[in-house]
Amino acid sequence: MRYLDIDPVDRAQIIIEALPYIKRFNGSIMVIKYGGHAMLDEGLKEGFALDITLLRYVGIKPIVVHGGGPQIGKLLKELSVEPHFVDGLRVTDERTMDVVEMVLTGQINKEIVTRITMAGGRAVGISGKDASLIVAKRLLYKKRLSDGGVEEIDLGLVGEVQEIRPDILFKLADAGFIPVVSPVASGVDGKSYNLNADTAAGHIAMALKARKLILLTDTQGVLDGDRRLISSLTKSEAERLMQMGVIKGGMIPKVQCCLDALQNGVKKAHILDGRIKHALLLELFSDSGVGTEIVLEREKEHEDYV
Ligand code: ARG
Repeated sequence: MRYLDIDPVDRAQIIIEALPYIKRFNGSIMVIKYGGHAMLDEGLKEGFALDITLLRYVGIKPIVVHGGGPQIGKLLKELSVEPHFVDGLRVTDERTMDVVEMVLTGQINKEIVTRITMAGGRAVGISGKDASLIVAKRLLYKKRLSDGGVEEIDLGLVGEVQEIRPDILFKLADAGFIPVVSPVASGVDGKSYNLNADTAAGHIAMALKARKLILLTDTQGVLDGDRRLISSLTKSEAERLMQMGVIKGGMIPKVQCCLDALQNGVKKAHILDGRIKHALLLELFSDSGVGTEIVLEREKEHEDYV
């Protein structure tokens, strides 16, 4: 193995750098959104399962919330389910939702559970439906009109979070299990809804008052105007960068999701590059990390440094 070239004292130093974080995070809940490339590549999948299992064994309570976009599209195509669009946006009808649920809760969820189990962790796969973990309501997409008005568009069985009942997660995590959550939920109307996995993870993190919300993405993290990684951001800095248009496109809802979580009791949020193997470990157990950390105010976390 390559690390055997490293001087043993340096190797020990790498492990020792983790000690203050292992102490600090002992017993804390961390909600990790797993998605994108990290869910497609063989080596990354294995790395993720090992990281999650390691977190559990150093006393952290990880909760995984996963996505599943590309796999859903593939099966819809194979089953020749005709896509419907309104204004360029895909509408989730009942047949599509059946496939979404099959892939997310049936296939992807169980694959993640199997991998964590193989790594030695005791994963339990559930969906938002189980024990009413997530109660959903229909999401009406708000389209901005040129006259400044808003039109609400019904996208079918796409939901947003109405309520979280987190007790099942506390029970599982406290008993030593690693919950793996698929972002499918029931509405009060009894229908199944597909939820955005980032926002589902954010709401779960808030309801649990998790220590961290960690989003694994297919980008380096939040980038500055010169496309260099910003290692650390406060809420006000993030808001300014969004106003200036430096944080843009698909990164805006991710950053917003992190800010909402921070505003509601989560201590720190991280946006990480899921394409880096062991990004989770590198971020959590080193001083400088590998992605972007977002906090309400700087230095806040060091107050409870033990
Ligand atoms: N390991 C520490 C933590 O998880 C610090 C991470 C710093 N990360 C960064 N992107 N600057 O809180």
